[in-house]
Amino acid sequence: MALPMRSVITGSGIALPQHLVTNDRLARIMDTSDEWIRTRSGIEQRYFAGPGLGSAELGSMAAEAAIRDAGLKPEDIDVVIFATMTPDHVLPGNGPLLQKRIGLRNVPTFDIRQQCSGFLYGLDLGDSLIKSGKFERVLLVGAETHSGFMPWDQGWRVVLGLSDDEPDEAEKSWNTQSRDRTVLFGDAAGAVVVERREQGAAGLLRTRLYSDGGVADALTMRGASFKQRPFVTKEQIAAGETIPVMNGREVFKTAVTLMPQAVRDVCADEGVTIEELDLVLVHQANLRIIEGVQKQLGLPAGKVPHNIERYGNTTAATLPLLFHECRQNGLAGPGALIAFTALGSGLHWGAALYRM
Ligand SMILES: CC(C)(COP(=O)(O)OP(=O)(O)OC[C@H]1O[C@@H](n2cnc3c(N)ncnc32)[C@H](O)[C@@H]1OP(=O)(O)O)[C@@H](O)C(=O)NCCC(=O)NCCS
Repeated sequence: MALPMRSVITGSGIALPQHLVTNDRLARIMDTSDEWIRTRSGIEQRYFAGPGLGSAELGSMAAEAAIRDAGLKPEDIDVVIFATMTPDHVLPGNGPLLQKRIGLRNVPTFDIRQQCSGFLYGLDLGDSLIKSGKFERVLLVGAETHSGFMPWDQGWRVVLGLSDDEPDEAEKSWNTQSRDRTVLFGDAAGAVVVERREQGAAGLLRTRLYSDGGVADALTMRGASFKQRPFVTKEQIAAGETIPVMNGREVFKTAVTLMPQAVRDVCADEGVTIEELDLVLVHQANLRIIEGVQKQLGLPAGKVPHNIERYGNTTAATLPLLFHECRQNGLAGPGALIAFTALGSGLHWGAALYRM
């Protein structure tokens, strides 16, 4: 029997900004500790972009690496999907900025915003674009510069290692107000090239995507909204409302329930068992969530790799970053059956099943 046409990942690449920031560095500008951050989240360090480096540029670096890895040139790309919740500008999106930066033809670019599920949604969209027959080579990018959300003032110089003079008590107290979120995120980019292949067992097998606007308040940014006049007020900045808010416990409970279920769903759709999975690549928001998903699925720890300790939560960059590392270290070798799963603001969540 002839095998169906498939969307195959033929190249991957990543990019990190230059500033490696340890938990101890953060503890110098707010009331937190390496011990709290490690125990509650598993994070040991993250990378931050300095001023002037945005997610479009970071994403472009990852994209160039992925295109090279696929053995292609920028002019071979037919369409771009750029997933980010931290674009350089509200408008235009990052897609055209990347298109110009890396010298693509005037191909269409889609900006998508499914936050931590951006890569999953992008993979599904890319697969649909390929299967529609309109495009053969999709560049899918997930990139974030969350550091733009951080409300620090003098603290930034300490965080970036430019000064050892800790901020005064007033600033420390202000920085502490958002510590439950600011210690969790990092900046990064990951990209993949997805190509149409007419035959072969490798490629994207199944996806299941879900959204639930009923819990949109669990993870949102209240300040800076086109519902209000003006778009952002001085009062909102002063109240810290331009930093996302999160009901951490609710998101945690939802994540450890819905991600394993989404993995079970794609496996059932494809007629494979959980035991047949070689790897489950889980969105890296919290090590305890990743371990929770692993236990729910009854898999050994080695099948559910993590890198959150080195990068923190990098939202749309997380899954391509982890996938790239698994390709590099041989965990995602030829023939491996991989489930991707993610959950994030929206809520959006889902899973994808992929054969290497
Ligand atoms: C945010 C999260 C790490 C909090 O962990 P937790 O174990 O639930 O933490 P708790 O709520 O029990 O503890 C909060 C306490 O720690 C304190 N705290 C919060 N952030 C802190 C920090 N960075 N350093 C030190 N203490 C901190 C709080 O003030 C609170 O203190 P109190 O009990 O005296 O009031 C966790 O809920 C989480 O990861 N949730 C999911 C996040 C997620 O997935 N987000 C992204 C989805 S894409």
